[in-house]
Formats: sequence, structure tokens, C-alpha cells
Amino acid sequence: MKNTLFGRSIIDASEITHADIEAVTARAKEMRKMVNEKGGDKRLTGKIMAALFYEPSSRTFSSFVTSMQRLGGGIIPLLGMNNTSVSKGETLEDTARVFSAYADVLVMRHPEAGSVKTVAENALSPVINAGDGIGEHPTQGLIDLFTIREKFKEQENLHILFIGDLAHYRPVNSLSKLLSLYPRIKISFVTPEQVPIQGSLRKYLQERKIEFSEQKDFLEKIGEIDVLYVTRVKKEYMDEGLYHKIQGSYIVDKKVISRMKKDSIVMHCLPRVGEIHTGIDQDPRSIYFTSQLQNGLYVRMALLDLILRKD
Ligand code: CP
Repeated sequence: MKNTLFGRSIIDASEITHADIEAVTARAKEMRKMVNEKGGDKRLTGKIMAALFYEPSSRTFSSFVTSMQRLGGGIIPLLGMNNTSVSKGETLEDTARVFSAYADVLVMRHPEAGSVKTVAENALSPVINAGDGIGEHPTQGLIDLFTIREKFKEQENLHILFIGDLAHYRPVNSLSKLLSLYPRIKISFVTPEQVPIQGSLRKYLQERKIEFSEQKDFLEKIGEIDVLYVTRVKKEYMDEGLYHKIQGSYIVDKKVISRMKKDSIVMHCLPRVGEIHTGIDQDPRSIYFTSQLQNGLYVRMALLDLILRKD
């Protein structure tokens, strides 16, 4: 299979093609097999990654670091940006030039949408967007798409329902754009009226003639959906007043899940803060601590391998 990702930056899900998805899918399956059999190998020996995280992270940071380590590569040991020259006022453009002079790939998270693109425009190495403000989180989108496609072999007529603060939840932007590559998918967005999906995403889906709806009540469709994608209210991106108004608007518990189809799934890319009751964690439909989380490692290993090695 052709490696369409070699040497490329991953900034926005709209740049990801069917060919890219097939390449990542095949490589991620190989990675899963390899990790399960022997933990890793040495294919990225001599390659270095810099993880530039201007915002906190557990999953994205750790899975990228361990992906590099499992493939024999090295990392610049950064834990956030506070101990770098960013604290002395270094610009994004200069930071891009500096770290890309030492590292073969940059993985970056930042609170401002568009910031990772700025870095990619100034870097000498490929840059992977690990979340830029309310913009995008394309690798999470790829992980979620991989997880959905593994569960439902056919993408025909799947119905995905996103609930929560969709105005600020970047993985929803990325996954929705990726889902739009499969035109027979149906999407429902359920939000409090203060935090609807972004206008740019609405336009993107309309232009591609994707069937989608926006509403407030999520129980209305709960019995007909295949995927319930739950999100956290992004407290860090709003004022206290709005947070207290919308936090707790939707809670997924045993009563809710009992109305869902037997072969449906509940996803959340985590962290959660109360929107999913722990009482449903053991339900086989809840996959946020099982396949969705595990696939984060395999998909990010696949991405690093494809970006850093031609064959
Ligand atoms: N899913 C996700 O991006 O989690 P972190 O913020 O912990 O990286």
C-alpha cells in the first residue's frame, strides 16, 4: 500500500484522504499485532520527536511519547513548555525553527486555533496537531474513526450522535470531517443552545451534503443510534457563568444506556468530568477505556512510522 503520509504534517482533518485512512488503518493493525507479540521494535532508531505541549494532556502526550519509544525512536524530554524559552517570550515561529532543527517530527498542542498551522509553516520537520484550541484534534479523529470502522465493518447507514459542548470540543470537528468521507453516514449533534457546533463545521458538512441534524434533546434518538459520542464541557474555554449553566446538561447513566441498541457503542475521548456515570463503565458498549483508548497507541505509532519512514 502506498505511503501517502511520508514527510507530511497533519494539521486539519480536511486534508486527510481515503488513501491516508487506509494506510493508517493497515499500519495500526500491524502495530497492534506487534505490540501484543513483542512490545515494539527498532524501526525509528535515529529519529527524534519533540512534543511541544502548551496545554495539559494525559492521553495524547503519553501515547505519542510511548509510540516513539516502542518504535526505537528518541524524544526531547519536555514536560510542557514552562521550562523552555517560550517563558522568555520566544515566538511560535522561532520555537518552530528551533525544535525542528533538532527533531525529525514535532507534535504540538496549543490553546489557540491555528497556532499549529503557524508552526508547521515555519518548521523544517513535519508537525502533528495534537489539539489547537477549539480548532482540531486530527489524530484523535483518526483514532475514533479507526475504532468505529473496526466495530462496524460497513460504514453504510451508521448513525452517530455527539452530545455536549460541541462549540469547543475539537475532536468533534476532526471526527465529523473524517466521517464526511463516508457520505451515507448520518450525524446528530445534541447541545445546549449556548454551545452549538461551529458555523465552519456546519458549512463543511452542508457543502458535502452530509445528512445531519442539531437539537437539544438526546433521548429522542437514543434508541436508533449506533454510536453515542459523549464530550466534556470545556471549562477552560468559557466563563464560569456559562460553565455552571451548561455543566450537567447531559448525563449518560444506566437508564440512558438501557435504551440504546445492543450492538451500539458509547465513546468519549476523555477526560470525563461526570458526564458518564462510572456505573456503565463495565457495560460492553462502553469502549472509552478499552478499544478507543488502546487504539490511541496503535494509530499514533502508525502515524509516526508512516510520516518518518518512506516504506
Ligand atoms: N483525548 C485527549 O486528547 O486527551 P488528553 O487531553 O489527555 O490528551
